Amino acid sequence: MLRYSLTFICHALFCPAQGNVRGCLFLQVEDLRYEGGTQKQQMNDRDYMQLAIALAKATAGQTSPNPSVGAVIVKNGELISTGVHLKAGMPHAEAAAIQAAGEQAKDAVMYVTLEPCSHYGKTPPCADAIINSGIKKVFVATLDPNPLVAGKGTERLRKAGIEVVTGLCEEEAVRLNEKFFHFIQHKTPFVTIKGAVSLDGKTAAKTGDSKWITSGEARQDVHNLRHEHDAILVGINTVLHDNPLLTTRRPQGGKNPVRIILDTECKIPLSARVVRDPSSKTIIFTGNRIDKQKAAQLTDLGVEVISLDSSRISVREVLRILGEKGLMSVLVEGGSEIHASFIAEEAFQQIILYVAPKIIGGREAVPFIGGAGPDLVSQGKKLRFTNVEKIGPDLKITAVRLVEQEGGL
Ligand SMILES: NC(=O)c1ccc[n+]([C@@H]2O[C@H](COP(=O)([O-])OP(=O)(O)OC[C@H]3O[C@@H](n4cnc5c(N)ncnc54)[C@H](OP(=O)(O)O)[C@@H]3O)[C@@H](O)[C@H]2O)c1
Repeated sequence: MLRYSLTFICHALFCPAQGNVRGCLFLQVEDLRYEGGTQKQQMNDRDYMQLAIALAKATAGQTSPNPSVGAVIVKNGELISTGVHLKAGMPHAEAAAIQAAGEQAKDAVMYVTLEPCSHYGKTPPCADAIINSGIKKVFVATLDPNPLVAGKGTERLRKAGIEVVTGLCEEEAVRLNEKFFHFIQHKTPFVTIKGAVSLDGKTAAKTGDSKWITSGEARQDVHNLRHEHDAILVGINTVLHDNPLLTTRRPQGGKNPVRIILDTECKIPLSARVVRDPSSKTIIFTGNRIDKQKAAQLTDLGVEVISLDSSRISVREVLRILGEKGLMSVLVEGGSEIHASFIAEEAFQQIILYVAPKIIGGREAVPFIGGAGPDLVSQGKKLRFTNVEKIGPDLKITAVRLVEQEGGL
C-alpha cells in the first residue's frame, strides 16, 4: 500500500510567499511516503500511474480551461522526476517532468494521466518534448477528447519510434477530468447541483430559516467544491433571504468561482454582498422586462447584467452563454426552485447532497427540489449513486444522471 503526501502542491499556487515558481512545480521525492520496503520492490506500472493521478488530483479546480494532468518519469525502476500542470499558461505536466529529469530522461519511461498534446497552444507540443528527451516508452491513462489532440499525440510518439501504452487506470483518469471532457464535448459547463438537507430532505424550515442544517465539517467541504468549479449559481430568493458572499474560504486558500444570479425582474438590492464584494466577478441573468436604470447602476458597480430575450430565464440558455464565456463547470447552490428548473430541463451532470442526521419536518418546510414535480413516480429522474462518504456527522452522497441526453448539456 502506498501513501503520498501531496498537500503542498495545492498550497504552492495560492501562497505568493513561495516565490520560487520552479521549486513549486515539482514534487520532492521525500514527500512520497512508502510503507516499508524499497521503491524498487514496491512500485509497478499501476503504482506510478496512480502517483501521476494523485499529482493531477491535487490541482483540481486550478487549471481551467485546461485539464488537470500529472506525469512521472521512471528509469531502471527508480523514480526520476514528477510534474504537474499547475495553471493555464504554465508548463504542462510532461514538460515539467522532463525539465526536472534533465539528461536522465533518456531511455526512461513516462507515466502521464492524459494524452500528450501535439499542437502549439500557450506552450509548445508535449509530444515533441517527449521525443526530444529520448524517453523510450510512454504510458497514457486516457486519450484527450480535445479535437486538436485526440489520438494525434500518441500517433506522433509512435511515429517517432516510442512505445505507447494507453488505458492504464483509464476510468480514474477520465473521472479526474470529467468537467474538462464534458466541456470539450458539449461546449457547455459541467453542472453539479449541491444541497444541504435534513434526513427528511428539507433545505430550510417553514420560516425559510436554513442556518445551519449540516455540520461545520460539511460546510467546509463545500468550499472545496466551490474551488473546483469555475462558477457558482443561485436564485434571487437565496440572495434576498441569505445575502451570501458565494466565495471560497479554505485554510489553504482557493479560487473564487464567478457568481451567477438568476433574477428575472432584476430585484437584487444594490447593497447585496454579491454586488459589493470585489473578490469575484458577478453576472446577473434577467428577463427582457427590467428597469434599464437599475441595470446601469449594477453595471457601474462592476456587475455584468445579461438580459435574455424572453420573460422567463431558461437555464439551458444560461448554460449556453456561460459555455461561450469559457466557464467549464457550474456549482448550483440553490434554492429549491432553481434546483427544480435544472432537474426539469435535465441540465445537470451530478448531484452532491450533504445529509444531516436531523429531522425538520413540516409540509411547508422548503424541500431540496421545489417546482410542480411530475404526476407519477415513474416520471422521476433516474440517477446512479457513485459515492457515499461520512463528513463529520453528516453523509455526502454523490449521484450522476443515468443518461446523457442528445444535443449536449
Ligand atoms: N440548505 C441549502 O443547501 C440551501 C441552499 C440555498 C438556499 N437555501 C434556502 O432556500 C430558500 C430559497 O429557495 P427558493 O426556492 O425560495 O428560491 P431560489 O431557488 O433561490 O430562487 C428562486 C427564484 O429565482 C428566480 N428564477 C429566475 N429564473 C429561474 C428559473 N429558471 N428557475 C427557477 N427560478 C428562477 C425566480 O424569481 P424571479 O421570477 O423573481 O426571478 C424564482 O422565484 C432560502 O430559504 C434559502 O435559505 C438553502
